[in-house]
Amino acid sequence: MKISLTNDAPQAVATDWLVVPVAGKKPMQDATVQKLDRAMGGALATHIRDESFEAKRGKTLSMQPRGKVRAKHILLVGMGDGVSSEAGMRLLGVKAGRAAQSHTTLCVVAPSTDPTLLRALADGVITGAYRYTRYLTGSRIPKKQLTKASLLLEKRPSAEQKHAVLEGGLTAAAVNFARDLVNCPPNDLTARVLAEQALERAKAVGIECKVWDKKGIEKLGMPLLLAVNRGSHEEPRFIHLAYKPKPASANYPRVVFVGKGLTFDSGGLCLKPGASMVEMKSDMAGAATTIAVVTAAAELALHVEVHGVIGSTDNMIGGNAYRPGDVFPSRDGKTVEIINTDAEGRLVLADALAYARELDPLYMIDHATLTGACMVALGNFRAGLFANDEQLLELYKQAAETTGEQLWPMPLDEDLRDELKSSIADLKHTGSRMGGAITGGLFLKEFVGDTRWAHLDIAGPAFLEKAQGVLPKGGTGFGVLTALQFLRQLAKGRATTA
Ligand code: BES
Ligand code: MN
Ligand code: ZN
Repeated sequence: MKISLTNDAPQAVATDWLVVPVAGKKPMQDATVQKLDRAMGGALATHIRDESFEAKRGKTLSMQPRGKVRAKHILLVGMGDGVSSEAGMRLLGVKAGRAAQSHTTLCVVAPSTDPTLLRALADGVITGAYRYTRYLTGSRIPKKQLTKASLLLEKRPSAEQKHAVLEGGLTAAAVNFARDLVNCPPNDLTARVLAEQALERAKAVGIECKVWDKKGIEKLGMPLLLAVNRGSHEEPRFIHLAYKPKPASANYPRVVFVGKGLTFDSGGLCLKPGASMVEMKSDMAGAATTIAVVTAAAELALHVEVHGVIGSTDNMIGGNAYRPGDVFPSRDGKTVEIINTDAEGRLVLADALAYARELDPLYMIDHATLTGACMVALGNFRAGLFANDEQLLELYKQAAETTGEQLWPMPLDEDLRDELKSSIADLKHTGSRMGGAITGGLFLKEFVGDTRWAHLDIAGPAFLEKAQGVLPKGGTGFGVLTALQFLRQLAKGRATTA
């Protein structure tokens, strides 16, 4: 989809949908909207009054245009008290994109001229228009899709504004790419295919990507990844993407993102009940986020060295499957006693984190659909944020506040560490049911050494049964926006590198 900026007269824009933001009881960006209202003989203002449209954030009301207005439909979108936040602009964009997703053209009256806010409006439009249609045939194939969107300004767009909209487009494409991977069924998205996708994206944006197959992983030394893979007929993959900004001579902070890439989680021998298994194609959402973030960082030419590290396999049953009671070594050297084969994510991550640590990053951040317990604690729409470093925790919270992605800080209580004590190995890999998200985090912490690290348990928001706020049904691409915002903040040097 193409998205651009224009400053045409609003009544003259030939578009399927013209979207008008409303704050309080009044349309916003007065000059433009008043022009439109005049062209409609005052019908816009009357409609808002008659329908007693309360401009609550995200509320919408559609209407037919009157008079000499070329748009086919008009959508009013509530902005609450006004617009000052990126999240508010993104929501406006998403509402607009959703309304127009089965039409061809869309024009949104921009309620701000600020480049950062325009960027959010642009990424909102494109993520809002997202649909996953790959497996639809015949009459189920959508007849139309949004191909051209524009943001309407009063004055001629500046170079800075144009650049911001371009960035919004790249950001949205990254989010939608992650969604596509998550939505792809597990028979088609195996670890091998996930790695191919990473290679393809890396090539497209001109960054390095190295992939290890099963033999390679044996040589590299990832015993826990191999343990989880034992029950599967599919080979595992280990993926390392690296974006190094130019000029190479400059000193950039280095950040490593780590992703859980379970292309399907049956639970292994500790088999999940059928109903909880359907969603388990989404157990590679952390990997999808990771690939999206690193490749988008390259496209946005951020001044941060960004790596992506992914362990990928499915978790299956079979005569060779790993068992409760088994003991395996890890890349780090520590031995692990397997308790529940459904806690496979932390095993794959343990080896990936140990590898990531070897890259000597300033920060490492993992995204993982790790525990049902985190969903019990925080609900479906919020991710748990764990960190062994106060400053990193603050930076990440700040980034999430800017994007509107919902996180909540979770403790890494040392009191619970006892639950991971094993009598025959260095560690047990699960504790009791109580504090399950925390013991998951504590297990990972055993493998990060003294590297500054944050862990996002995205089991809730990575995949949704129905749309919520800006998040669509199915794969959401959760985490991409905040990770990119975090990198931007880091690049701006707002963070100390000490
Ligand atoms: N992939 C699941 C966690 C999950 C559950 C993600 C529901 C999304 C929706 C993970 O591998 C898992 O099964 N975790 C177990 C851990 C337990 C055995 C300690 C869980 O949460 O039940
Ligand atoms: Mn599991
Ligand atoms: Zn899992």
